[in-house]
Amino acid sequence: MSNNAQSAVLTPEDDELLEHGGQDDGAATSRARPIPRISIQAFCEDQRLANVLQHAAEDRRLSKAHVSVHMGGASAAVAHYQESPTPNLIVIESSLPRMEMLAELDHLAESCDAGTKVLMVGRENDVVLYRELLKRGVSEYLVSPVSPMQMMETISGLYNNPDSDPVGHIYAFIGAKGGVGSSTICHNVSWALSELLRSNVVIADLDLAFGTTGLDFNQDPVQGIADALATPERLDEVLLDRLLTKCSDQLSIFAAPVVLDRDYDVTPESCEMVLDVVRQSVPYVTVDLPHSWTNWSKRVLLQADEVIITAEPDLANLRNAKNIIDLLKSARKNDSQPRLIINRVNMPKRPEIPIKEFETNLGLKAMAVIDFDIESFGQAANNGQMIEEVNAKSAAAQAFRSIAMAVTNRRDMKVEKPKPSAASALQPLFDKLRMKR
Ligand SMILES: Nc1ncnc2c1ncn2[C@@H]1O[C@H](COP(=O)(O)OP(=O)(O)OP(=O)(O)O)[C@@H](O)[C@H]1O
Ligand SMILES: [Mg+2]
Repeated sequence: MSNNAQSAVLTPEDDELLEHGGQDDGAATSRARPIPRISIQAFCEDQRLANVLQHAAEDRRLSKAHVSVHMGGASAAVAHYQESPTPNLIVIESSLPRMEMLAELDHLAESCDAGTKVLMVGRENDVVLYRELLKRGVSEYLVSPVSPMQMMETISGLYNNPDSDPVGHIYAFIGAKGGVGSSTICHNVSWALSELLRSNVVIADLDLAFGTTGLDFNQDPVQGIADALATPERLDEVLLDRLLTKCSDQLSIFAAPVVLDRDYDVTPESCEMVLDVVRQSVPYVTVDLPHSWTNWSKRVLLQADEVIITAEPDLANLRNAKNIIDLLKSARKNDSQPRLIINRVNMPKRPEIPIKEFETNLGLKAMAVIDFDIESFGQAANNGQMIEEVNAKSAAAQAFRSIAMAVTNRRDMKVEKPKPSAASALQPLFDKLRMKR
């Protein structure tokens, strides 16, 4: 990012705005969707807005966009575009009185290329000015002070049309150590999500050599995610449909090949391209990451909308979870904290770190603590079933329902057991009983 901005003294309020992205709640975070590969040029009057834009430019949602920040406000923009072509989006800060501001905009319009959008930032909360600006083709007007999250949300609103461009949420599941149950949790939560919300969910199994998604859903797919990763540029909705394996009306898996005589040439870019296509067609994409640290698994974690870390209560898990949490906190300043699940707790005869101590050391409260339950989990794994199907009354089944609600911010919804699916053998009987009543 090129930044001609001069440094300036910032107040504690500015720090607060930057530190927390000006977020008021989780909803604001989810309204700001990833922004496409566009060029954005800003002309600020005040160093604060320049800092806000710089902060936003470093966010994962703007990682594809090219942002450059200049000082000098509207007049600098007018001078600049007399010589240069205009980008996709121009952000202009102006504290000029209404008539002068509009006159500057009229000048700018003379050199604006078709398709360029203008976002104004001003001081006046004035509806007449707002209408005048819209009449002149300005896309949006924000009143200072603007937070990075507000800026991202506004840009996202200009470039993501909720009707034509559905953008699904990506949930990345990773284990703090191998074998802690991250995949099992990913699959059960995805299943609960699809049943409770009656919404489409795709599980992307990125554990290409050893993934268990096929096994856990009793499927043996011939094609899957490795075919998409090999030629990501060919992936479109039609091909995606062919490569997915349907497990229920709402749940599909993008299965791992699980063969060892094949080399997997995965790059951060191919992962991103594939997940971008998937998120265009379904509202919820859960990614089952292997417990290995590669440039592409790191990229998936940093780019995900939510990260769910599963750990067992021992020292190595604590250390690894801390490292992952610290990395995420420093690289995702405008995002909510990762979610923590402590799994396989109270294993007979095993010395464990008490949950409170584990949480205190991580500075993070676990969203769920799941007991070691060898009977339910063992049976589910061997039968290719979900815990809900094996033992719907178990604490683990309840935990998966709650996690599904919490990660989709549906805390207010009553968590009910999923209704028996249409495929249930007892469904006709239930229907008859209901009719008699
Ligand atoms: N709460 C639990 N109680 C008992 N067994 C469990 C529990 N959670 C998971 N398991 C079992 O632990 C084993 C490992 O689970 P899983 O494969 O999901 O872990 P993982 O973290 O994805 O491992 P990997 O590092 O291989 O990807 C499985 O056999 C699973 O059934
Ligand atoms: Mg796994």
